Amino acid sequence: PIKRITCPQISSRKGGTPIVSLTSYHAHTAAIVDRYADFILVGDSLGMVMHGMESTLGVPLDLMIMHGKAVVTGTKRALIVVDMPFGTYEESPEVAFRNAARIMKETGCGAVKLEGGQRMAQTIKFLVERGIPVMAHIGLTPQSSHTMGGFKTQGRVEDSWSGHEQDAQAVSDAGAFAIVLEGMVEPLAAKITRQIPIPTIGIGASVDCDGQILVLEDMLGLNPGVAPKFVKLYGDLGAQIEKSVADYAEEVRARSFPGEDHIYR
Ligand code: KIV
Ligand code: NA
Repeated sequence: PIKRITCPQISSRKGGTPIVSLTSYHAHTAAIVDRYADFILVGDSLGMVMHGMESTLGVPLDLMIMHGKAVVTGTKRALIVVDMPFGTYEESPEVAFRNAARIMKETGCGAVKLEGGQRMAQTIKFLVERGIPVMAHIGLTPQSSHTMGGFKTQGRVEDSWSGHEQDAQAVSDAGAFAIVLEGMVEPLAAKITRQIPIPTIGIGASVDCDGQILVLEDMLGLNPGVAPKFVKLYGDLGAQIEKSVADYAEEVRARSFPGEDHIYR
């Protein structure tokens, strides 16, 4: 039987061959990603990507669990990491443990991810000591977009660097097995990557990070909005779906579908 990639295996990849990751939200796309990625993130970006929400703030825990379960079911090799949604971990380490344990038990995933640096260090330690591996996420943290005043690239002024460096150090000291650096100026992400002993996973960060992650639908060209600068388009699925649906509609209206091959004589 193929065993899944573990959190310690991800940690041991520090400074080695870059760690490959993408998000997935459902079984079938996850099965494809599973053949190439080291870990798959069931991110709370699914609120926007799958459910048309305006931000990640309204994503319920139950929704994360539903999609998490689908992705675990559809995969066999990659480590599956599930995001803790806004409001399910910030209040206290105890609340965080209760909700993280639900995610682990009900989805079968291998780790959770939560946003925040120094302010979440105590909670990360609490979870890790109780058997829940935690991936940290610092820099641009979408769940705090209201306090940050929007989605802004972090580290543009060098005065702000030390705060991010301390965030990275704090979550590393607290026992996080890896850390997402999102929307951060390149030299800061590269510096943090050199400073901390756990792998950094970049998104809009640096090619020097120990790994990279993108939202699958974004890189496939399935995001109807304006994609951020850091999204490289590896496909144009939106246009392909559009053409297929338009062809189908035309054929139905013209009575050319169903044809001979698609009916029972
Ligand atoms: O929710 C998400 O997709 C994420 C990644 C962008 C890191 O947190
Ligand atoms: Na997220």
